[in-house]
Amino acid sequence: MDSLTLTAPDDWHIHLRDGPALSTTVPDIARWARRAVVMPNLTPPVISAADATAYRNRILAEVPAGVDFEPLMTLYLTDDTTPSMVAEAAACPYVHGIKLYPAGATTNSEAGITGLRALYPVIEAMETHDLPLLVHGEVTDKHCDIFDREKAFIDSALIPLIAQFPALRVVFEHITTAEAVEFVEHVGNKVAATVTAHHLLYNRNDMLVGGIKPHLFCLPVLKRDRHQLALRAAVTSGHTRFFLGTDSAPHARHEKESSCGCAGCYTAVTALELYAEVFDEENALDQLESFASFNGPDFYRLPRNTAEITLNRVEQVVPQQLALGQHEVIPIRAGESVAWTIARQTQ
Ligand code: NCD
Ligand code: ZN
Repeated sequence: MDSLTLTAPDDWHIHLRDGPALSTTVPDIARWARRAVVMPNLTPPVISAADATAYRNRILAEVPAGVDFEPLMTLYLTDDTTPSMVAEAAACPYVHGIKLYPAGATTNSEAGITGLRALYPVIEAMETHDLPLLVHGEVTDKHCDIFDREKAFIDSALIPLIAQFPALRVVFEHITTAEAVEFVEHVGNKVAATVTAHHLLYNRNDMLVGGIKPHLFCLPVLKRDRHQLALRAAVTSGHTRFFLGTDSAPHARHEKESSCGCAGCYTAVTALELYAEVFDEENALDQLESFASFNGPDFYRLPRNTAEITLNRVEQVVPQQLALGQHEVIPIRAGESVAWTIARQTQ
């Protein structure tokens, strides 16, 4: 198959940042996604429905003329979130979930929660209002090896949470391990997972053999190839609770190429083409549409898109760098080729 026409996709997990960065991040995602779930880890974080509405307006101001793009907003769960803030969020047409970051787990997570039990009344309100909980699933215990943190989170946090709130919809974000795949496959239909393009394309050897590649460093960190293969099998299996979430997370080049480089990979500029490459390598291009365009809206209970997008098997070279405000961001595959190109969209 050299040409593939899909229902227009969405991105169920992205970081757009704020301020001048939006003039790069918003057009990049709006080029191929109709909607995107926008992460709230700004500084300071997006914690109320009013914050989310204001941030949404700043994003909409950067959508190119004539392009149809809807940001789906999220709130940042903190130790100070209250059940009435949940009720307000659930009543706000722009808010589609609340994001849980364990404090210290990743970029801009200082405001994250320090314990889940104290927040059970808040989680209960989310269950009652049917507002999805989106989780960054890694423990932060300093004795837990960074490669084991996702599995430890399943056992210590996710299993008890789901037992306590069986009707709560949970999105296990950017999963990276065979254990997470297995968990999602068997846990029941209230739990889904997003999978990034970079965790499908790369493993820790790609990041570390022959020298450290800072632009491949993200959290959760790339794992060994056994896990990469399990993710590839999951997304191409036709299972309906895995869907596309790029976790595209731009950082200025100097903050990545540093003695303490920060976590996050920028993929949005060619993410759909990168996913197509993976599905093509797995001889599963026929499964790309449900992963990219159906499973996400079905889980979030939003309508599927009606527009279409066409991808052709035509090589393109990823830009060497893109502007990020007054700095630059290095996208994944910078200066190298991707096997697919977006041809056209119909509104
Ligand atoms: C994200 C970021 O930079 O905001 N970084 C990352 O490595 N994925 C935060 C996150 O999603 O963990
Ligand atoms: Zn993220």
